[in-house]
Amino acid sequence: MSDCNTRLIAPSVLASDWGIVAEEVRKADAAGADWIHLDVMDGHFVENISFGPQFVSAVRPHTELTLDVHLMITHPDKYLPMFIKAGADRITVHVEADHDVASTLRAIREAGLKCGLALNPATPFEEVIPFLDQIDLLLVMTVVPGFGGQSFMEAETMPKVAAGRDYREEKGLDYHIEVDGGIDLTTADIAAANGANVLVAGTSLYKAPDMAAAVTQMRG
Ligand code: DX5
Ligand code: ZN
Repeated sequence: MSDCNTRLIAPSVLASDWGIVAEEVRKADAAGADWIHLDVMDGHFVENISFGPQFVSAVRPHTELTLDVHLMITHPDKYLPMFIKAGADRITVHVEADHDVASTLRAIREAGLKCGLALNPATPFEEVIPFLDQIDLLLVMTVVPGFGGQSFMEAETMPKVAAGRDYREEKGLDYHIEVDGGIDLTTADIAAANGANVLVAGTSLYKAPDMAAAVTQMRG
């Protein structure tokens, strides 16, 4: 049973200095982060290219923290074995991607990992309903995926966070609700008030003068 009411802080490595990524991951660990969020982008599902499984393997030895891998890629099912081998603990895939969603979620769990399902700001909540009883995490994107440093899209996304919380309580389900994009101390509280408990933050944490203080404050 995951405690969906405990706030978890997941710094996004996308916003870190990749030239010293091992140090940046250790910094997040020492700052009290709960998970490390890894944004994988293929330049096709989103308008940017970030990194692949080898980058996840590079990060793995430098922390015991949960590696929360977010696949912003068109064919996530095809690449699952590589990310599993790379050391991911959790893998989140997009409902909008080109795959059999239920089959991909099942394959992640069969490999012994936790599975997550993400939806973009423009995607209606109804699109994920068929899968909510098969996931360990619902990721409500709070920016259009592809780039860090964007502004939080409150109106388009908070109703979906609340809908995810209400549906979970109503059906007695058990999944974390994660938000990702434009999360800072202010928007973290707004998202948590609507039902989110996993807060992904890149810019606001990696650019903070004191990351540990920012993590503590964001945890509320
Ligand atoms: C969007 C990425 C970003 C990143 C966090 O594709 O997923 O949301 O994790 O970005 P910021 O800098 O907004 O916290
Ligand atoms: Zn992400």
